[in-house]
Amino acid sequence: MNIILLGAPGAGKGTQGLSLAEKFKIPQISTGDILRANVRNRTQLGLKAKEFMDKGALVPDDIVVNMLVDRINAEDAKAGCILDGFPRNINQAEVLEKTLASMGKSISTVIGIEVDRKELVRRLSGRRVCRKCGASYHVIFSPPLNIGMCDKCGSEIYQRDDDKEDTIEARLKVYESETFPLVDYYSRKGLYRAIDGKGSVDQITLTIVGAIEGSDNSKVS
Ligand code: AP5
Ligand code: MG
Repeated sequence: MNIILLGAPGAGKGTQGLSLAEKFKIPQISTGDILRANVRNRTQLGLKAKEFMDKGALVPDDIVVNMLVDRINAEDAKAGCILDGFPRNINQAEVLEKTLASMGKSISTVIGIEVDRKELVRRLSGRRVCRKCGASYHVIFSPPLNIGMCDKCGSEIYQRDDDKEDTIEARLKVYESETFPLVDYYSRKGLYRAIDGKGSVDQITLTIVGAIEGSDNSKVS
């Protein structure tokens, strides 16, 4: 089972990815999280990626694609994975398809989480994230029980560097020009399922699970 979560910055890919990974017992693979871990650990890859991330631009494909291919080949992703933030352009989608095919696998479903722009900006500007487990909070919509501390694992929560007004605008523009064409790309392949991303997190999870289980391409027990 290989599920792609597609959606603009702030649509809820990370939030939903966590619940889906738990439900289906397959890993959530977020290229954004892997890149941020590299930035934090000051790896060569991280230092290179940071200049693009800080501008809200996509990190070049040669960096991201190799990183992703290594990750989906890992033992824990044998039964599948929830892809959060990859692919982000047509080239990445084509590489993913070839890589999965070489492993005898394919994409089961593409879940498109759809949220209007005003709501995306509200979500991103108030977001706080756990440094350790990646749980996502919002200062108004879903604050943690204790300020600055993750409800799930007790670690520190922080504001991402790219959740500043100018960078948010840049990221939304990049999404529209480079990533949005994937909606059409996957619709033509019959894999795209549009999900209304407004409403409670739990309700949206239920809708997504329904779409995955109802998909002709996925077999879920
Ligand atoms: P990445 O980390 O993937 O960021 P993104 O796509 O911009 O998406 P976000 O993580 O901002 O949003 P999300 O959809 O996960 O929303 P969340 O669940 O947190 O990428 C960051 C950067 O890395 C990119 O700009 C690029 O530079 C680089 N990069 C990554 N992948 C790449 C790739 N493949 N190729 C090239 N470059 C790449 O929710 C947002 C907020 O809303 C939270 O506060 C949450 O609590 C709240 N919320 C969620 N659901 C709801 C709800 N239903 N109601 C109310 N609030 C909600
Ligand atoms: Mg995310």
